[in-house]
This record gives sequence, structure tokens and C-alpha cells, in this order.
Amino acid sequence: MSDPTLGLYDTTDLRNAAKQRLPRGLFEFMDRGHDDEVAMRDNVAVMQSIKLHPRVLTDVSVRDQGITLFGKAQQMPVIVAPTGSAGLAWHDGEIAIARAARAHGIPFTLALGSMTKLERVAEAAGGPGSSLWFQFYMWPQRKLSHQVIARAREAGFEALVFTVDTPVAPGREYNLKNGMTIPFKFTARNTLDVLAHPRWLAGVWLRYMLTTGTPRYQNFPQETQTKITALPMGRSSNFCADITWDDVRELRRLWPHKLIVKGILHAQDAVMAADCGADAVVISNHGGRVLDAAPAPILALPKVVDAVGKRITVIVDSGFRRGADVIKAMALGANAVMLGRAPLHGVAAAGEAGALRALQIYRDEIDRVLALLGCTRLDQLTRAHVAMP
Ligand SMILES: Cc1cc2nc3c(=O)[nH]c(=O)nc-3n(C[C@H](O)[C@H](O)[C@H](O)COP(=O)(O)O)c2cc1C
Repeated sequence: MSDPTLGLYDTTDLRNAAKQRLPRGLFEFMDRGHDDEVAMRDNVAVMQSIKLHPRVLTDVSVRDQGITLFGKAQQMPVIVAPTGSAGLAWHDGEIAIARAARAHGIPFTLALGSMTKLERVAEAAGGPGSSLWFQFYMWPQRKLSHQVIARAREAGFEALVFTVDTPVAPGREYNLKNGMTIPFKFTARNTLDVLAHPRWLAGVWLRYMLTTGTPRYQNFPQETQTKITALPMGRSSNFCADITWDDVRELRRLWPHKLIVKGILHAQDAVMAADCGADAVVISNHGGRVLDAAPAPILALPKVVDAVGKRITVIVDSGFRRGADVIKAMALGANAVMLGRAPLHGVAAAGEAGALRALQIYRDEIDRVLALLGCTRLDQLTRAHVAMP
């Protein structure tokens, strides 16, 4: 590809390109929120209402946005968040995003609900320069979860991300209206939708059908894969309403590497996570895809940092659409930021090149905003740079 920008200049471009390429039902599954989508809109609106105070005349000619996370240097302060079904955005989409993350020197989090086997991702996108994390949800039958975790450990994943904000199935009516169920059933509506997107049909769906067969959740244990029948698209069979802090303690015993609890919005829960032995929390409202009345995570960030910032690593996500947003979080004390939709939109738009482009957009913007604030490194940012709404 001669144009390294792919004609995509910001995350809105990425989203628009993904929208064009994907069948509508799939795009909505990947892009939309929960209930009335208030939380999803708020994530961005609140972010935009936070202002940054620049300082001037400080010589910003040499800049470095690198950080050290869990003792490991990385080139920019972001991590690819887990997004289930990324393999439906592009053939082997998880591998494409993981390779893009490796090229940018940042961690990639593989979602349990991915279309690609975790062992294949480790083989195709692991090795020198990579940092692979594995996200999972607990099954009601704990034994099944623990088996998957053992596989991730065996495959060399460096961190385990336990997502705790979805004990029951979220309300996403659009998936039902669009017929996004598993197994995928062709209705008149979604057949027309798919036929209207021949590049996706040929490049993703038919390619799977001709190689590995109908896409499925390859990391689910065999027992649960067979039980997914016509339920709303998602990890249908493993919502686990009885997860508690005991599960975190148990995971601490089972998992020898970094343990991260994702989906925290309350400082007291962050303290609990630290007390249970977690190495990090991700302050997140799941990109506005679970509780619709949840606050924007950036608002919870300062309290969580004050409560546990000296004991454990604090990561934040949801609504980070610009490099300036990442800078806001870093100034408020976050150790890093996770990106969900942007890399996903990037891969849907143009595969690995699109995911690379998504990360490059953040990299360029972070670099620019750092300079405009009069800083050369992220550790020069303080809360004094930020004006909360
Ligand atoms: C299509 C999609 C699938 C997701 N799947 C998962 C998942 O399987 N596990 C998880 O912990 N979070 C999942 N998330 C949430 C992301 O990890 C992340 O918290 C969120 O996308 C961040 O918000 P942003 O999209 O505004 O960046 C998903 C998000 C999207 C958009």
C-alpha cells in the first residue's frame, strides 16, 4: 500500500471505514453500547469536557512517550483492550491486531471470545517484542475457566485480565433486531445485509468457510461450544452471576504472572482487588456496553489512583478517541490506557495495516499534544495540567 495513512486520519475515519466494510448487523454489534447508549456517549462527552492547561517556552524538541509497565519498557502508553469477535472484522483479525500491537511495542489483550485459538495467536504474534495478555470471563463451572487459563499460561501469555463487570447478559436489543445470534441464522434481513458487503463476505466469511469452517469461539472449552444455540451473539453460555472476590483470590493462587481485574469503577473495589492480590485494575465501563447508568471511567480515575495508585497499577479505558484523551488520563495518574473500538475499527477497515494505522494515529496525537502542553515526557504531566468539568 503506497499511502501509509490509508486515507484514515483520525479515529472517526477508522469508524467510518469499518462501517462501510462490515455488514450493518456486525458493525452495530462491534460499535454500539447498552440500552439507550448513554454511557457510551458520555464516555466521549465527558472526555471532551476535560481541558488541558498548556505551559509554553519549555523546549519540546526531543520527546518520548515511552512508559514502563510491569517492569517492561513500552513505546507508547496504550494497550489493546480485549474485544470479542475481532476475528469477524477481518480474517484472523485477532492475529492482525496482535501483530500491529507488537510492531508498536505495546501489549495486546486477546479476548476469550475470540475467533482464533489462543495458541495460534501466541505462535503468530508472540516472540521478541511482543506482550500478550489474555482476558477471560468466569464460567459458572469454575473448572472450565481454570482449564482455559492453564492453556493461556502454557502458551506464554504474560498477564491475565479477569473481566468482572458483566455478571449477567447485557441488554443489546440491536443484536436481536439484526439477527446477530449464534449459530448465525440467515434471515432475509441479514442475508441482504451480507450480500451488500461482498468484500466482507468474500474476504472474511467465505475465507473461513473454505478453510477452518464456520467461525466459532475457539477458546471456549469444547463442552460449552456445543451448547451455544441461538442465543444473542456473545459469550452466551458463560455469564456467571455468582463471581465474588473469592474468585480473584483463587486466580491469584492459580496464575503465576500479572493478574489484572477489569471493570472497576469504585475506589473501594480497587482496594479489594489489591487486597486480593491483583497486580492491576482496569477502570472501565466496558466502552458503555454494560451498565448504561455507569459514570465515565475517567471521572473515577483520580479517586482510584488516590486509593491504590501506590500499591498496584491503574489502567483506564472507555471513550479514548484522541491522543489528548490518553494524555488526560496519564496526567490524572493512570499508568496506561486501553483502547477498544479504535484498533477494532482499524482492523475492520484494512486488516493489519488498519490496526497499525489506528495505533499510529494515537502515537502521533500523543506526541503532538505532549509538545503543545510544554512537556517532553509523560512523567512530567501532573494533575495541574488538567481542568476537570
Ligand atoms: C466489540 C467489542 C467487544 C468487546 N469484548 C470484550 C470482551 O470480550 N471482554 C472484555 O473484557 N471487554 C470487551 N470489550 C470492552 C473493551 O475491552 C473495552 O473495555 C472498551 O471497548 C473500551 O472502550 P472504547 O471502545 O471506547 O475504547 C469489548 C468492546 C467492544 C467494542
